[in-house]
This record gives sequence, C-alpha cells and structure tokens, in this order.
Amino acid sequence: MKVSTEPVILKLGGSVITDKAADQGVVREADLLRIAKEISEYRGKLIVVHGAGSFGHTYAKKYGLDRGFDPEGAIITHESVKKLASMVVDTLNHYGARAVAVHPMGCTVCRNGRIESIYLENIKLMLERGFVPVLHGDVVMDLELGTCVLSGDQIVPYLAKELRITRLGLGSAEDGVLDKDGKALPEITPGTFESFKHYIKGSESTDVTGGMLGKVQELLELSKTSCITSHIFNAGKENNVYRFLNGESIGTRISPDKRVEV
Ligand code: IPE
Repeated sequence: MKVSTEPVILKLGGSVITDKAADQGVVREADLLRIAKEISEYRGKLIVVHGAGSFGHTYAKKYGLDRGFDPEGAIITHESVKKLASMVVDTLNHYGARAVAVHPMGCTVCRNGRIESIYLENIKLMLERGFVPVLHGDVVMDLELGTCVLSGDQIVPYLAKELRITRLGLGSAEDGVLDKDGKALPEITPGTFESFKHYIKGSESTDVTGGMLGKVQELLELSKTSCITSHIFNAGKENNVYRFLNGESIGTRISPDKRVEV
C-alpha cells in the first residue's frame, strides 16, 4: 500500500452522509459507518471536510441565510451542522481515527461569501501530531454581509493552497461529473470546461451552495492557480474512499491545462 507522507484532503458531500431531501437533519448511518471505517484504515496525514446536507441546507434555506442576515437563523443552522460534525467525529473515533472537530464559525472570516482567512496554526499542529482535523460547511462571519453560508467545497481548495496540499478528493453521491448520458467524464480542465458546462447540474432546490457545478468551478479555479489535480468520485460506493486515499485515480479528474512545449 502506498502511504503518502503529504497530507490529503477529503471532502464528504452532504448527500453521501445525510439524507439531503429530508426537511430536518437525518444522517445516513450505514454510509457514515462504512466511510469512517475506510478512513480509519488510511495511515497517512489527513484533513476531512464534510458537507452540511440536511443539517445545513434545510435551515439555511428556511432562514434565507443565502440572501440576508438573520442572527437567530444563523445560530440554529450553526448548531445543527455542529451536531452532524459531532456525529462524524464520534464515528471516526469509534474506529480510532483521532478526529477533532474544527468548526469554521470559530476560525473563519469571509467577505461577500468568499474566504478571507481561516486560522490554520491549530490545524497544522494537529496534522503534525497525527490528529485528523474535521471541518465542515457552516455559517460563518462575513465582513460585508454579517454572516454567510460557507460550503465545504470552498474550504477544500483554500486549505489545499494555504497548506500546500496537492492531493484532494470530493466524495460525492455520483460517479464523478456526469456527461449527457450519465457517464462520469474522465477529465475536465479549464480549457475543456465550456464544452461540458451545460451538462453539469447546479443547485438542487434544497441546496444553497451550488451543487456539482459549484464544486467543479471551485476546483477549476484551484487548477488555474496551482498545478493541483483534484478528484470527484462516488463516496457512496464501497471502498472508493479507501481507494482514493491510497492513491488511485477514480471518478473525474479536475486538472490544469497541459502546457504545450515549444
Ligand atoms: C453547506 O455546506 C453549509 C450550510 C448549508 C450551512 P456544503 O455546501 O459543504 O454542504 P453539501 O455538501 O452541499 O451538503
């Protein structure tokens, strides 16, 4: 088995670990247990970021947090995603993963919905000492808006850039980014994106943070400003999380454009 000494970032989509269509927070217990077990079998350094699923989107939508400032709604939503984070951390630790929750509300500042800064010193020390920091989609403070809804999909490329992590994967509920026939595209680059863009789904009605299109756009931005290739794969299928963590290229690769040699 190939064990990376470089940290890896794994995002678990909210639709994999929760029932995203539910009108309150409902966890997919069997999937969470299976994924936590696969993660605990990985021996390298790791950051987990998970989505909010029905623990976040339902309330963010109900209180209009994607459109305006509502302090009561922000607290209800934040408390709800914290419950999910606690279930994820407990399940990981049940399998011995040494997971620690790092709630973005406590360490992140955004401006107009984009991350200005995340306090990283504790995360760096956790990685050094073999802990697995667990971040998640959350409501966070925003310099212009009061609060904003921050997707894990934005946290992942931010951490990759700031911590110089080059292996990252988004475990979604689909086999990757699907083409018009429902088959996973092997690769998308900034140069080929336009030709695929119209197939890629944006937010479902329950999702306030951009759906698959939002994920692809975040990762394409990262590939433009770094040489990082990310992977979007199906974490709902047994062993895929384990395979990704151990270096396999599965699902859709989001890669930089190849440089033409002259
Ligand atoms: C959304 O986070 C955060 C809130 C709604 C509070 P994500 O965008 O990371 O969640 P998923 O993966 O779509 O469920």
